[in-house]
Amino acid sequence: MLAALAAYQRGFAGRKAQICYAMKANSSLGVLQVFAQAGCGFDIVSGGELERVLAAGGDAARVIFSGVGKTRAEMRQALDAGIGCFNVESEAELEVLNEVALSAGKPARVSIRVNPNVDPKTHPYISTGLKGNKFGVAHERALGAYQRAAALPGLQVVGIDCHIGSQITEATPYLDAMDRVLDLVEAIEAAGIPIQHLDFGGGLGIDYNGETPPPADALWAQLLARLDARGFGQRQLMIEPGRSLVGNAGVCLSEVLYLKPGAEKNFCIIDAAMNDLPRPAMYQAFQQIVPLSPRVDVSAPTTWDVVGPVCESGDWIGRDRALAVQAGDLLAILSAGAYCMSMASNYNTRGRAAEVLVDGDHASVIRRRESAADQMRGENLLR
Ligand code: LLP
Repeated sequence: MLAALAAYQRGFAGRKAQICYAMKANSSLGVLQVFAQAGCGFDIVSGGELERVLAAGGDAARVIFSGVGKTRAEMRQALDAGIGCFNVESEAELEVLNEVALSAGKPARVSIRVNPNVDPKTHPYISTGLKGNKFGVAHERALGAYQRAAALPGLQVVGIDCHIGSQITEATPYLDAMDRVLDLVEAIEAAGIPIQHLDFGGGLGIDYNGETPPPADALWAQLLARLDARGFGQRQLMIEPGRSLVGNAGVCLSEVLYLKPGAEKNFCIIDAAMNDLPRPAMYQAFQQIVPLSPRVDVSAPTTWDVVGPVCESGDWIGRDRALAVQAGDLLAILSAGAYCMSMASNYNTRGRAAEVLVDGDHASVIRRRESAADQMRGENLLR
């Protein structure tokens, strides 16, 4: 995590830049603490995430609040906490935020998330900057939205932002989005509305299966060159990386329960499932599976579908994997640091896994294994 962060910090050396970890990728308190202590801000998408930031010792002033469906209560909570900026995603949200800010007696600092209509060339469920996506204000409506925001007494315009998608593995979509956003900044400032910060979102991909995304510092060298060329190099910059800070820092450890060879498929049934690792079931995502102690006594690896105990055919973790394994073996499922624990569920009343944070030769349990009692807390029997 810290090595991944350092690549961004190197990229931004000598610039005014704030890294706001997109904590939806992994919102465990111990993980947040690491980033808070390293000086990061946080990109949040709910009042619950704000509570986590504060519980982990994060600085509210470095929190930015994204998301298309903020409630009035969440807006009030964020204003009371003194967050740095609301990334507003619609004209309707501007009006509601203005009302909430006026009734709270605290101005809301806002950036408008613009939808640059750029194809990030990633999975459709994680593309967010195309016209057909629910996110952000359309490019052609953005100037009007800024004029409205500047006229609302409860709002203070401070920035502009975009986020075009996730698991992006090339620089071109970023460069295209940047150009589109800078065109808007020029138009908005020409209309007399100064823009203090430029937020280019998150989205940088990681290596799951041989992908070769640019390293964060190399990506930013290109992006900063473009910013410099257009005269924006000295602006306050913000980014919202999630996956690229935590994805490759995590593994999920699981035990082989049963081997079940079949006529069409061989199944390797493990004790982790789609409730722990939802990405394969949701996005047909690939995550490497590595035996902890490779067996030499099994003559040839057999091809297995690695599946969990959940009662769904969609409950698979890896398909057609060559593995030399026996029941009782431990497997590491790699690249599980992002969007695994934070998307884990209790389906089939399965307790969520324990989490262990490793720093050199020191290991800390940052989440204990969840019990059935933990899961039933808050439920009532009928009287
Ligand atoms: N900022 C905003 C406004 C976002 O919506 C997201 C992610 C990020 C930043 C961070 O993006 P990242 O750097 O992690 O790519 N569950 C999916 C990914 C969903 C991403 C949602 N938004 C997956 O497992 O692939």
